[in-house]
Amino acid sequence: MENNFVYPPPQHFKENALVKDDTLYRRAAADRLNFWAEMAEGLDWFKKWDKVLDESDAPYYRWFVGGKLNVSYNCLDRHVNSFRRNKAAVIFEAEDGSNVTLTYYQLFREVNRFAAVMQQMGVQKGDRVVIYMPMVPEAVMAMLACTRIGAIHSVVFSGFSTEALYKRINDLGAKLLVTVDGATRRGKFIPLKENAQQAIEACGCIEKILVVRRLGNIVQMQPGRDYWYHELVGQVPLYCSPAEMDAEDPLFLLYSSGTTGTPKGILHTTAGYLVGVYTTYRYVFDYHEEDIFWSTSDIGWITGQSYIVYGPLANGATIVIFEGTPDYPQRDRFWEIIEKYGVTVFYTAPTAISTFMQWGTAWVKKHDLSSLRLLGSVGEPIKPDTWLWFYEHIGQKRCPIVDTWWQTETGMIMISPLPGITALKPGSATLPFPGVEVQIVDDQGRPLPDNEAGHMVITSPWPAMLRTLYNDPERYEKAYWKQFPGCFYSGDGARRDEDGYIWILGRLDDVINVSGHRLSTAEIEGALVRHTGVAEAAVIGRAHEIKNQAVAAFVTLKEGVLGTEELREELKNLVVKEIGAIARPDDIYFTAELPKTRSGKIMRRLLRDIAEGRALGDTSTLLDAEVIANIKKSYEGEG
Ligand code: WT7
Repeated sequence: MENNFVYPPPQHFKENALVKDDTLYRRAAADRLNFWAEMAEGLDWFKKWDKVLDESDAPYYRWFVGGKLNVSYNCLDRHVNSFRRNKAAVIFEAEDGSNVTLTYYQLFREVNRFAAVMQQMGVQKGDRVVIYMPMVPEAVMAMLACTRIGAIHSVVFSGFSTEALYKRINDLGAKLLVTVDGATRRGKFIPLKENAQQAIEACGCIEKILVVRRLGNIVQMQPGRDYWYHELVGQVPLYCSPAEMDAEDPLFLLYSSGTTGTPKGILHTTAGYLVGVYTTYRYVFDYHEEDIFWSTSDIGWITGQSYIVYGPLANGATIVIFEGTPDYPQRDRFWEIIEKYGVTVFYTAPTAISTFMQWGTAWVKKHDLSSLRLLGSVGEPIKPDTWLWFYEHIGQKRCPIVDTWWQTETGMIMISPLPGITALKPGSATLPFPGVEVQIVDDQGRPLPDNEAGHMVITSPWPAMLRTLYNDPERYEKAYWKQFPGCFYSGDGARRDEDGYIWILGRLDDVINVSGHRLSTAEIEGALVRHTGVAEAAVIGRAHEIKNQAVAAFVTLKEGVLGTEELREELKNLVVKEIGAIARPDDIYFTAELPKTRSGKIMRRLLRDIAEGRALGDTSTLLDAEVIANIKKSYEGEG
C-alpha cells in the first residue's frame, strides 16, 4: 500500500518558485472563467476574444470566442522580437550522439521556409497534413509550419505500422504526408518513406509526399508525387506570414485508442489548447527562463505535442529533443544527456523509471545530475517505491516530483502538484490544477465520500479540452458526455483522500495502458481475428512490474488448427504488422472457449485473474471461490 510520508517542497525550491502561495487556486476558485481569461493574456492575440466560454451548444464548448491568433506566431515570432531572439529553442541530440542547437531566430527561419514549401505544394488552411517522422527537429518544424498556414496536422507515431498509418490517413482524408527517407532505432534501419508509401498507395487521398533527408539512404521518388524538402526549400521566400486563425479553428488531430477497434481522431482547436498548455507548462514545471527542459516522450503522443512543442515554446523555453532510446549505446544514455546539456527539468514515464531501477544505480552514478531541479512523471500511476527511487537516485532528494495526470483528450495537465507549494505524497497526482474541477462519483454519478473509489469525472469545461472526434460527433457525445450528463467521463477510476489528494487507480474501461501507451483491447482483438486460423480472441491487460500492463491474448482456434509455438509467434507478428511493436502481445493463451456472460460479453475480469496467475495452480481455493463469485455476479448482473 501507499507509504504515509509527505514531502513538502524543499526550502531552496520554494524560495525560487514561480508559485509561492495559493493565489492561483484562490483566483480560479473565485472566478474560473476570469482566471482563464487572465492566463490568456499571456499570449499574443491579433484580436482579443469577445467571450471566454460559450456553453450554448454543449458538449461542443467554444473558448475565447471571437479571438484571433496564430500558434507559430506565439511560439516563435514574439520571442524573436524579444530578448529571446538568440536563446536556444531546441537542443537536438541524435541517436548517434551528434547534436544541433537552434536558436529561436534559427527555428523561426526554418519554420517560415517549411511553411512556404508546404504552401507552394498547395497546402491550404484547413487541409490535413500527416507527419510521420522520428524525433528530429524537422518534425517540430513541420508541426509549427502547419500552424503557421492554418493546416491541421496529425502526427502519427513513427513506431506505428503501415497498416495503422493507413487507417489514420484514410480517416483524415489528408492531402500531404511529411516523412523522412529513413530513421534508425538502436542502430537498426527503419524505412519510413517506404512504409509511408505503402500506406498512401492504399489510401488514395494523399496527393504529395514531402521527404526530409535524414539518413541519405536511397529511396524511390515518384515524380509529381514525391518531393525532397531540401530541393524545394531553396526556392521559397524566407518569410511566410502567419495566418490569422480563429480561436476555434482546428489546430491538430491526434489519434488515440478507445474501447472499439477504430482509433479516435481527437480534435484540438487553436486558442483554448494553447492557453491550456502555455499555462500548465509554466506553473506545473515552474518555468524559469534559464531552464533546459527535457520531456522524453515522442511527438507522436500528446505529451510530445503539449510538453515538447507547444507549451514550452509558447513560453520561450529551451527544449531537448532526443532521437534515441535510453539503452543505446548503453544504459546510461539519459543520464549522459542530462549531464551533457545541464537539463534542469526532466519529465518521463513510470515505466522508464522502473526500467532504470532494474538496471541499477551504477549507470546513474556515472554522471553528474546536479543540474536537475525538478522531475515529472506522466502516463501511468507511479508506484510509491518507483516514486521514491526517482526521488532519491535521480532527484538526489533535492528535486520535487510532479506526478501529472491527464489524457490526449484533456490536451493539458489536469491534476498535478504545483512544485513550490504542494506537499507531495508518493503515488498521488495530488490536486486539480487551478481552474480544473474534478469529482469522484459512483455508477449513478453520485459524488462519493473521501477514500471511496469511483469514476473520475471532470465537472466543468477547461480550455484545452478536445472539441470533438473527427468525423464522428456521435461517438464524441457517447464516449465522454452520456455516461454522467454534464460531466466529462475520463474512463479512469480514482479516490480522493481526506486531504483532497487524488489517487488514480487506472482505467475502468477496455482501454489498457502498456508502458504509458494507450492501447485498445478491441483493436488488438481485431488484428488477431484477421488470422485465418483464429475463431475468436479476447485481449486484456495484465499487471506487469515494469510496463504497468502487458498485453495478454486469449485465442480460440478454428477446428483442426493447432495451437503451436509457430502460430503463437505468427499471431504476435500479425499484431505488430497491424498496429505496431508497442501492441505486441506478451502472452497468447490458446483456449477451447472464452468465458462469457449469457448475453455473450467476454468476462475480462476472469481472464485477468487467469493471466495474473490467481486462478491457476494449486494455491488458494479462496481465490478460486472469488472467481466463481465473479462469474455468478456477472450472470446475476445480466438478469
Ligand atoms: C491515460 C491517458 C497524458 C499523457 C500520456 C497518456 C493514464 C496518464 C497518469 C498519471 C495515473 C495516468 C490514465 C489516463 N495516466 N497520466 N499521472 N497517473 N495514470 O495519454 O494515451 O491519452 O492516456 O493515461 O489512465 O486516462 P493517453
